[in-house]
Amino acid sequence: MRYVNLLWIVLISTTALADGNTVAAGKAVYSQTCIACHGANGKGAIPGVADLTASDGALSKSDDELIKSISEGVQSAGAPLAMPAKGGNPALTEADIKAVLAYLRAEFGT
Ligand code: HEC
Repeated sequence: MRYVNLLWIVLISTTALADGNTVAAGKAVYSQTCIACHGANGKGAIPGVADLTASDGALSKSDDELIKSISEGVQSAGAPLAMPAKGGNPALTEADIKAVLAYLRAEFGT
């Protein structure tokens, strides 16, 4: 019985922490892999990069669409520059991509 109670405490505390931890992990991914093109403020550091802060911009798309864009890369018709798959870092895991999306929404979402 004591173990069961302990388990609940562990479960409840890790769930409460999960959101903040995911955003923090996403921030680390962003600073390493995305910031060179997207800039610290998310507006885009070089021409042709999507402005992630625009209220009708990329972040108005669904999580599924954005996870696909980040995982596989994307280039809109006539765009001067492509977004490379996984931001050009093949080591990124699915968890990293979900975390970086959580960071984008927390930091740049409207
Ligand atoms: C080499 C530069 C470059 C890097 C590195 C890069 N991006 Fe991009 N990203 C772009 C460009 C360019 C676009 C716009 C593509 C288009 O719409 O034609 C874009 C678009 C996006 C979009 C909008 C996608 C959509 O469906 O509209 C998201 C979200 C995004 N990037 C997230 C990221 C994340 C997260 C990382 C890091 C893991 C990253 N980018 C790394 C250049 C980059």
